[in-house]
Amino acid sequence: MPGDPRRAERIANLLMPDADKVSDVRGIGAYTGEYNGKPLSVMASGMGQPSLAIYASELFMFYGVKRIIRVGTCGGMAAKVKVGDVVVAMGAHTDSSVTDVVPGISLSHTASWRLLSAAVAAADGDMAVHVGPVVSRDKFYGNDPAQVQKLADMGTLGVEMETAALYMLAAQHGAEALTVLTVSDHLLDDSQNMSAEDRELRFQGALTLAAAAAHC
Ligand code: ADE
Repeated sequence: MPGDPRRAERIANLLMPDADKVSDVRGIGAYTGEYNGKPLSVMASGMGQPSLAIYASELFMFYGVKRIIRVGTCGGMAAKVKVGDVVVAMGAHTDSSVTDVVPGISLSHTASWRLLSAAVAAADGDMAVHVGPVVSRDKFYGNDPAQVQKLADMGTLGVEMETAALYMLAAQHGAEALTVLTVSDHLLDDSQNMSAEDRELRFQGALTLAAAAAHC
């Protein structure tokens, strides 16, 4: 489940050239087919937790989906994380109220260990892969530099906009979820940020890990 519908189409074509396009409501293409002899669907989430939450909730509630793997991009936060690296989100902090579903408790939004360990095991020695927490924010623009620094100091690898809601929904529905991200820009060093075209195209490493997790 990438955020971008065009990336969904690309991923479907790469993994399942014979896939059927089963929905295009609101331009969110959904593709279903077989990958390595097993059923697989690829569908975009749109941007942000509210959008992802609609699609993921409906997949869990009405389509019998048991695992969702997000393949997206993030802005790097930790100094060791470089543009082009892959981040596997073990957990997700958030500033969103979308995940406040247990009154009085700040939930831990965590990946499925089974999917996470399968993804990490699929990394080859040449890939720079980081495993740890990310932060899922509700706003793309307007980062507070002091907050970014504090999150980086706490070991937060990157910022994106969907994972906390995905992990909460998986927990709510007794399902499994994982997010694998390509670092497309860096909040502490914008000198190597990817172009819009690169953001669409440079996801092969993250996809390899996600595909391995999908069929573990
Ligand atoms: N996705 C990719 N880069 C991002 C950033 N800097 N902030 C939020 N989401 C992102």
